Amino acid sequence: MIIETRNLTKIYGEKIGCEKICLSVDEGRIFGFLGPNGAGKSTFVKMLVGLIKPTSGTATLLGTPIGDVFTRRRVGFLPENFRYQDWLTGRELLQYHAALAHVPKEMRSQRIGEVLRLVKLEGAARSKIKTYSKGMQQRIGIAAALISDPDLLFLDEPTSALDPIGRLDVREIIAGLKERKKTVFLNSHLLSEVEMTCDEVAIIKDGRIIESGTIDDLLKGKVEVEIKATGLNGSLDKQISQIGRLISDDGTELLVELEGEDKIPILVSLIIRNGGKLYNLSRKKRTLEELFLGVIKGGGS
Ligand SMILES: Nc1ncnc2c1ncn2[C@@H]1O[C@H](COP(=O)(O)OP(=O)(O)O)[C@@H](O)[C@H]1O
Ligand SMILES: [Mg+2]
Repeated sequence: MIIETRNLTKIYGEKIGCEKICLSVDEGRIFGFLGPNGAGKSTFVKMLVGLIKPTSGTATLLGTPIGDVFTRRRVGFLPENFRYQDWLTGRELLQYHAALAHVPKEMRSQRIGEVLRLVKLEGAARSKIKTYSKGMQQRIGIAAALISDPDLLFLDEPTSALDPIGRLDVREIIAGLKERKKTVFLNSHLLSEVEMTCDEVAIIKDGRIIESGTIDDLLKGKVEVEIKATGLNGSLDKQISQIGRLISDDGTELLVELEGEDKIPILVSLIIRNGGKLYNLSRKKRTLEELFLGVIKGGGS
C-alpha cells in the first residue's frame, strides 16, 4: 500500500479535524477524498505530508512511517489555496522548488523543462507568476509539486478555483500521471470532478469516513426504480420495506430504492399481487451525486 492509515486522528482544541481515519490506497490509484467544506480533508493530508502532527493514530507513506525525510522526497504536495512567490517567474519558482526537493543540480534544468511541458507552461516560463491566470497559477503549483518526479502526489482542491477549461487541463495532467503509474490522492468537494477523475473514493463528513470503495462498487448495490401503476392497495408500502424503501408515492407514480437489481422482479410481483396494474417501470441510473447527497444528509447510504 502506498498510503495506509490507522485510526489517524487530529483534534484541534475542542474541535475535531479528523477522527479515527483508516484508509489504504494502492499503487497507481487515483484516489478521491470527497467531502463538504470543513469535513477534515485538508487536515488529513496535512498530517500525511508532515505539516501538522496527528493527535493519535499512525500512518505510513510508501511503506515508511510519516515524517520519514527520504520518503518525503518521493511525495509531492499541492496545498489548498497556495500562494507562491508571485514576483518570481515560473522558471525561478521551479528552480527554487527543485533545490528544496534535492533534485541533483545537473538534472534540474532538464526536469524543469519536463514539468513545464507537462503542465503546458513552456511559453510562460519567463513571465512573472503574478501575471498568470488562476488556471496557470494552479498549473505552476502542480509543476512545483511534481518537480522531484514523486511517486505519490497529494492535490488539495486542485480545481476548485478553476473554470471548466482549467479543470480539464488538471484532469489531463492527472490522467498522464496515472499512465505513468503514479499514485494521486485528490481532495475535493466537487463531486463531478472526483467522478470523472478517480478510481476510488472515500467520503468524509465531520472528520469521519462514511463511505468508501471504487466508484463502480459504490454505485452498484442499490438501484432506484420509477413505477407507474394504478389500483395499488395500502399494504404494498410495508412489503416494499423488506426489499428496499419507498422514496415517494403519489398514488400512481412511485419511486422506490431497492437493495439490488435482483429485487426488481420481486417488486413487480408484489405490485401485481397487491392488485396493481403496472404501466411502466424504469430504472434510474444512480449518480455519485445522489449517493454523496444521500450519505451527507443521512449519515448512512
Ligand atoms: N488550525 C485549526 N485550528 C482549529 N480548527 C481547525 C484548524 N484547521 C481546521 N480546523 C477545523 O477542522 C475541521 C476540518 O477542517 P479542514 O481539514 O480544513 O476541512 P476541509 O479541508 O475538508 O474543508 C473544520 O471544522 C475546521 O474548522
Ligand atoms: Mg480543505
